[in-house]
Amino acid sequence: MCGITGYIGYHEATPRLLSMLQKLEYRGYDSAGIAVLDNDEIVVRKMKGPLSVLESALANEKIPGTLGIGHTRWATHGEPSDINAHPHTDISGFIAVVHNGIIENYIKLKNYLQERGVVFRSETDTEVIAHLLNFYYRNGKNRGQNSLLDAALKTLSKLEGSYSLGIIASDFPDRLICARKDNPLIVGLGENENYIASDVPALLPYTRNIHFLNERELAVLYRDHVDLFTESGEKIIREPSSIEWDIKSAEKSGYAHFMLKEINEQDKALSDTLSPRLIKKSNESITINFDEIKLDDSWAEAKKIVITGCGTAYHAGIVGKYIFEHFARIPVEVDIASEYRYRNPLINPNDIFIVMSQSGETADTLAAMRLAKKHGAKILAITNAVGSTLSREADLILYTWAGPEIAVASTKAFTTQLMCLYLLALRLAELRKTIPDREYKRTVRLLVKIPEQARNILVNQEVIQKLASKQFNKNKVFFIGRLFDYAVSLESALKLKEISYTHSEAFAAGELKHGAIALVDKGTLVIAIATQEALFEKIISNIREVSSRGAEVMVITWEGERAFDTVAAEIITIPKTDSSLSPLLSIIPLQLFAYYCAVQKGNDPDKPRNLAKSVTVE
Ligand code: AGP
Repeated sequence: MCGITGYIGYHEATPRLLSMLQKLEYRGYDSAGIAVLDNDEIVVRKMKGPLSVLESALANEKIPGTLGIGHTRWATHGEPSDINAHPHTDISGFIAVVHNGIIENYIKLKNYLQERGVVFRSETDTEVIAHLLNFYYRNGKNRGQNSLLDAALKTLSKLEGSYSLGIIASDFPDRLICARKDNPLIVGLGENENYIASDVPALLPYTRNIHFLNERELAVLYRDHVDLFTESGEKIIREPSSIEWDIKSAEKSGYAHFMLKEINEQDKALSDTLSPRLIKKSNESITINFDEIKLDDSWAEAKKIVITGCGTAYHAGIVGKYIFEHFARIPVEVDIASEYRYRNPLINPNDIFIVMSQSGETADTLAAMRLAKKHGAKILAITNAVGSTLSREADLILYTWAGPEIAVASTKAFTTQLMCLYLLALRLAELRKTIPDREYKRTVRLLVKIPEQARNILVNQEVIQKLASKQFNKNKVFFIGRLFDYAVSLESALKLKEISYTHSEAFAAGELKHGAIALVDKGTLVIAIATQEALFEKIISNIREVSSRGAEVMVITWEGERAFDTVAAEIITIPKTDSSLSPLLSIIPLQLFAYYCAVQKGNDPDKPRNLAKSVTVE
């Protein structure tokens, strides 16, 4: 996954390309580059390392050109290096290209071009695109105004795999071409200037008028207008969309890291996701309003729910299983999206198919959705990204109103995904008549309290910061829990792994004795999530099992709960709610714990090694 930017206007392109790249660095940060058309010549500057390396190198260089493209890379083909960094050009330097995605048939295309004398410089798949464009441009019959577009259309017809592309050419100082397939790309419309970017936050300082490119669409950007085309060259007429996001929400606003900001925004994000879906008749009577998606009788009659997603979204799905089975008494299968299409799944069109994805652009998740759709399944998407591929291909959409999530580690997207699942499960329970009215009303009232309870955890975060400063150097951290707490353990272990690089695992507490307990020794930190009152005795036994083998134990439980006083070295408490709603709160201290451990270790939690925010490759 990579970030793409592009600018055409009357201002210098370089500062704009760089400032937009800063907003996209979460998409990849092993190298960065720009190409700017300056006096009929394309000037390329690209370097290994984070964007700051390129920025320093460009600090004393003036490139006055007003047309350019930029890129921040997450390497797939070829190690991070100056040569492999984008943009890539043809040998004459006539055409420059930035690319996000993978060209699967690049070896075949490379051989074809090499046989015709083309010399390659990098190990990337992208370089074939620059050479192919040049090849079709030079050999094209049309030498007129459309010759670059024709060469682009011909090139795209030869590419297999996924791409979003930005293209400039030295013979065409008045245009920038871009295209997309299976990777996001957005066109921003300004006044006498236009932009391209992989994601909305990059465009917010300049414009809120946006064209989301659809699959296999191209755009030709001029200074004063933009033309949209299909990949078969037909012109498309479409009104732009307007983006409502607040610019502040895409900036750090004084927090040390985006991740910390996003953790701290969870009370608001939860409230924004919940409130529009409630109808309040009185304090006693609040009901769920799902006008945005019509749940017809087929929902009440469905025999099964299938939930799929990757990483954190998959973990939200596991919580979802417990939620739906608890409230709506319907069986749920949770599938890892990256496995789904390889195991010949049984897809019944009458099942409810829920696809979870913060970005709405995860390649594996989209592939799972497309397979289910092909077999007739009706797709309900839960996503945070308006205009994303998922939101455009799903039949029904529930948005998590979390605002932009920039940090690689997902936090507020997770809790708001859970909130959507709770609302959906309660509504479904109502339709299926599996919940008594009193219980329904009580649960909705408890949900209403969650945002404020989340805030109470956040205002006391020094406690967790202190614990992290004591524990950050542990080599092994195990999270244990039962039922809902097990699902939260999985997500907590992922958070700690991805940003603090600590070996951490999650276990269903009752499973320890079937093998994993052999790993426990002095120096192991075991974090027990204990919010299921009915199972307190069980988890206390599990805590005793690990502490008698030398582990240090930290417990997450309810405020005022004394059951763990004598068995745990440290206790973190969260405000009391029903055990069935606990994941909405119990994950928050553990997100903070992971964040503070990462900071203590000197890691950058926003840009963990080897990871990128949205994984648009298989
Ligand atoms: C979360 O912290 C991870 N960075 C990752 O697991 C993420 O949740 C996963 O890649 C899925 O992303 P999506 O929600 O955008 O589809």
